[in-house]
Amino acid sequence: MMSNPDKLIIFDTTLRDGEQSPGASMTKEEKLRIARALEKLRVDVIEAGFPIASPGDFDAVRAVARAIKESTVCGLARAAEKDIDRAGEALREANSGRIHTFIATSPIHMERKLRMTPDQVVEQAVWAVKRARNLIDNVEFSAEDAGRSDIDFLCRIFEQAIAAGATTINVPDTVGYNLPHQFGETIRTLIERIPNSDKAIFSVHCHNDLGLASANSLAAVMNGARQVECTINGLGERAGNASLEEVVMAVRTRRDIFSCDSDLDTTQIVNCSRMVSGITGFPVQPNKAIVGANAFAHEAGIHQDGVLKSRETYEIMRAEDVGWSQNRMVLGKHSGRNAFRARLLELGADFASEEELNEAFRSFKELADKKHEIFDDDLLALVNDAGFSAENERVNLVSLKVCSETGEVPKAAVVLTVDGSEKTGHAAGSGPVDAAFKAIESIVRTDSVLELYSVNAITSGTDAQGEVTVRVQKAGRIVNGQGADTDIVIASAKAYVNAFNKLMRSERRAHPQLGDV
Ligand code: KIV
Ligand code: ZN
Repeated sequence: MMSNPDKLIIFDTTLRDGEQSPGASMTKEEKLRIARALEKLRVDVIEAGFPIASPGDFDAVRAVARAIKESTVCGLARAAEKDIDRAGEALREANSGRIHTFIATSPIHMERKLRMTPDQVVEQAVWAVKRARNLIDNVEFSAEDAGRSDIDFLCRIFEQAIAAGATTINVPDTVGYNLPHQFGETIRTLIERIPNSDKAIFSVHCHNDLGLASANSLAAVMNGARQVECTINGLGERAGNASLEEVVMAVRTRRDIFSCDSDLDTTQIVNCSRMVSGITGFPVQPNKAIVGANAFAHEAGIHQDGVLKSRETYEIMRAEDVGWSQNRMVLGKHSGRNAFRARLLELGADFASEEELNEAFRSFKELADKKHEIFDDDLLALVNDAGFSAENERVNLVSLKVCSETGEVPKAAVVLTVDGSEKTGHAAGSGPVDAAFKAIESIVRTDSVLELYSVNAITSGTDAQGEVTVRVQKAGRIVNGQGADTDIVIASAKAYVNAFNKLMRSERRAHPQLGDV
């Protein structure tokens, strides 16, 4: 199995574990866009979802399996017959597919969640791996909460899972409890003690509850793990998963320490990061390693001086190696559709359909009328906008008028189409955005609660586009909506309408690690 010990396999789970983050749920089209970007980044394995969770999840995994040719596409399944069979069905048309089956192994999970004895858990795991192997050659087995499991028990269950046909053995630190030296030691012990460990790739899957997910993953790689499971921007439940960009760049930058490397085209990292942030509405903090806006900015005078004399004085990586380009002015009012598409392709963004391209190009022309210089970031915001202003949405923003004057109560009048028919709403509010939201609510009446509202300037200057993210919640279902425009009140209205469309689309889905399907 360990045919190439120099290769580090990158398993991206943005579309599965990342999507489990409340509010980060994605449509099939959004998942397809991210999957294509991940393929371009050359990730080895894309975990596309949990097919048993809902018909929508099944469709999305099947669509990704059909579309992706270079990366392996993986579907998650608990160690249960219906999960495994559904995952096998979703992956049937994959060029290269993998079933990822798991069961919990820590005493607390076995006793309180599964209510199974350790013997029953081993038996179920072996049965599940064999069932999956009957459907597909590539099977990964995970011991959920391995980070708090007994090492002897892990040796026993992993040895039997490998004997049953698992080709990858994954060791998750599900609750982010481990420390790097300890987790590294666990991986080394497992590989040394399991007699058939050479027949499988050892993988790790770390959560970031103590901020150690990337450090723990790297400690595992130093001790023999050759697959890391991670997400773009570290997206994921609670504090998230190990962040792909941190793990990949640490290994690449410190080749003096690591005896392996990934095959990733790291120049695609920033594009993937922006796309995931735009689609999910989870902003990237400015000081986030690798992909944060300040990650390569040298503010302090002494640093700038050093970097100008010789960049290595303060830079350990080159910004362009992870895809930070000069945010150059690329297109203008007279640019054509082909130039528009070509530049977006260079930026790693493609369109799922001609209609999506046409919609984005229309918005580009409108933007070019308002804004003289169009930058890469403006283009990427447009693509995100086009992705969710599709014609088949139930609610669309037709027009918005707001009056805001010193000493007066702001008022808004909004026109929407709801299922094809035009409706008008009026409202007053404490500010123009509040008035616009109330006017929209007066038409759509979703009874949802606004949990978050944030505005980001996409580029600098007063003519910059504002990108607005809203998070709304209804009966426990949380969705994020985004909108971009040079007018931030319009961007806000677009974001609000986008959130409502998502809310109406979102279906109840099972969580793989909680409750029953
Ligand atoms: O964190 C975890 O244990 C998981 C498993 C399903 C691999 O996500
Ligand atoms: Zn996880």
